[in-house]
Amino acid sequence: MSTKKLTVFDIRNMKASGDRIVALTAFDAGSAALLDQAGVDIILVGDSLAMVVLGYESTVPVTMDEMIHHARAAKRGSNRALLVGDMPFLSYQADKRDAILNAGRFIKEGGCGAVKLEGGIEVSETVSAIVRAGIPVMGHIGLTPQTAGQLGGYKIQGNDVESARRILDEARALEGAGAFSLVLECIPDKLAEVITDVIAIPTIGIGAGLGCDGQILVTHDLLGMFEKFVPSFVKTYVKLAPQMKEAVASFREEVKSGRFPDQDHSFTMKVDIEELLRPLP
Ligand code: KIV
Repeated sequence: MSTKKLTVFDIRNMKASGDRIVALTAFDAGSAALLDQAGVDIILVGDSLAMVVLGYESTVPVTMDEMIHHARAAKRGSNRALLVGDMPFLSYQADKRDAILNAGRFIKEGGCGAVKLEGGIEVSETVSAIVRAGIPVMGHIGLTPQTAGQLGGYKIQGNDVESARRILDEARALEGAGAFSLVLECIPDKLAEVITDVIAIPTIGIGAGLGCDGQILVTHDLLGMFEKFVPSFVKTYVKLAPQMKEAVASFREEVKSGRFPDQDHSFTMKVDIEELLRPLP
């Protein structure tokens, strides 16, 4: 695997060459470094930060300042992966000027190579404006968590002809607006396959089946670190939360019982104690 820094062009070319795109979230330098070393192509500083790190009930409350703070941290850990900053709720909806300035913060302050934003036809002019300002944009359609309330909650989208057609139209609109890739969240696998076939930019699925050009998950979900809510499309590769609780309980027990630190985890005194305690002349 080459260690050359990936650009949006490399990500676009991966579709043409059939090289599946691997994407995950990171919010700090340590995790970003691990993902980078493991060969992840795209590191998303997602607004899932709100729930899995900051303890909010949804992605809606997270602010631009919070997102930038974590983007800067992730940037310090990543070398090869394309770093993408996720535009939080109301950072791009009010007007195009706001959208360009906020997208620009991810590039200038956060060190990101691109931004992502949720929405279809209603945001396509905003996507165009950001792209024209020189900032690559990743789209996100299907289930869009920032507006999940309007979609009937966190549930599959595009399950009937009308909504499937709308999602297909949204994909075309975002491609036309200049997006370099598209996240497809929580839609039927066949619909994702059709979209992947008809648009030239890569699709990155989350709960959208195998037919996409790449896959993304929230890293906390993949590692089993976030127990509050695990969507059915998530594959948990390791259950770290119970392992962390077990390790912490062992530490607690050893501290309480006086078994930690033992000799192996202490420094032996080299100075003669008598000499140390002898009063200075
Ligand atoms: O915020 C996020 O982590 C995301 C992914 C789930 C695609 O948008």
